[in-house]
Amino acid sequence: ARLVVLVSGSGTNLQALLDACADPAYGARVVAVGADRDGIAGPIRAERAGVPTFVERVADHPTRADWDAALTAAVAAYEPDLVVSAGFMKILGPRFLARFEGRTVNTHPALLPSFPGAHGVRDALAYGAKVTGCTVHLVDAGVDTGPIIAQGVVAVEDGDHADGGEALHERIKTVERTLLVEVVGRLAREGYRIEGRKVRIPA
Ligand code: GRF
Repeated sequence: ARLVVLVSGSGTNLQALLDACADPAYGARVVAVGADRDGIAGPIRAERAGVPTFVERVADHPTRADWDAALTAAVAAYEPDLVVSAGFMKILGPRFLARFEGRTVNTHPALLPSFPGAHGVRDALAYGAKVTGCTVHLVDAGVDTGPIIAQGVVAVEDGDHADGGEALHERIKTVERTLLVEVVGRLAREGYRIEGRKVRIPA
């Protein structure tokens, strides 16, 4: 399966996918990496792996709709079977979803539907949650609201309150990378069916 991965940061989830794709049995190949900003580590990881990259910044377009169209075209050029939003910090627009909804997965560092949005780790910590974790889900028009595919649980520890969630987010990202690689591999090899809110991946 052809994967396009979208990033906005350090790209450790992307790196886990690049590493997994090195094994032909995994059944997927990262054909391009897209970013919404310059100066981040994600695209450098792609270049090191010989994977083409592109940047589509909202600020470079007169309207959000123009950015939506430009991002959609940039992704479509690589003819992906699956788009993976791995730490991509923009809401994908209607044009993009018209083309790729149902074939786009996102990873979120909280147990959805709890703590959606850009600060899931911090919000769970502030709420006093005893466990949190990560969610891999299909992207729909909402913010972190698409059908859940898989989740991983991470315990919150007392010391986590001292560093604004840094240590907790690192522990979540360790689980998240493994979960994302596992889910993307199975989607790439076996596909999936959606029954209402449930996403079934063949056992
Ligand atoms: C991940 O935890 C992702 O869920 C969140 O931001 C982090 C991105 O990490 N949105 P990386 O860029 O993959 O290292």
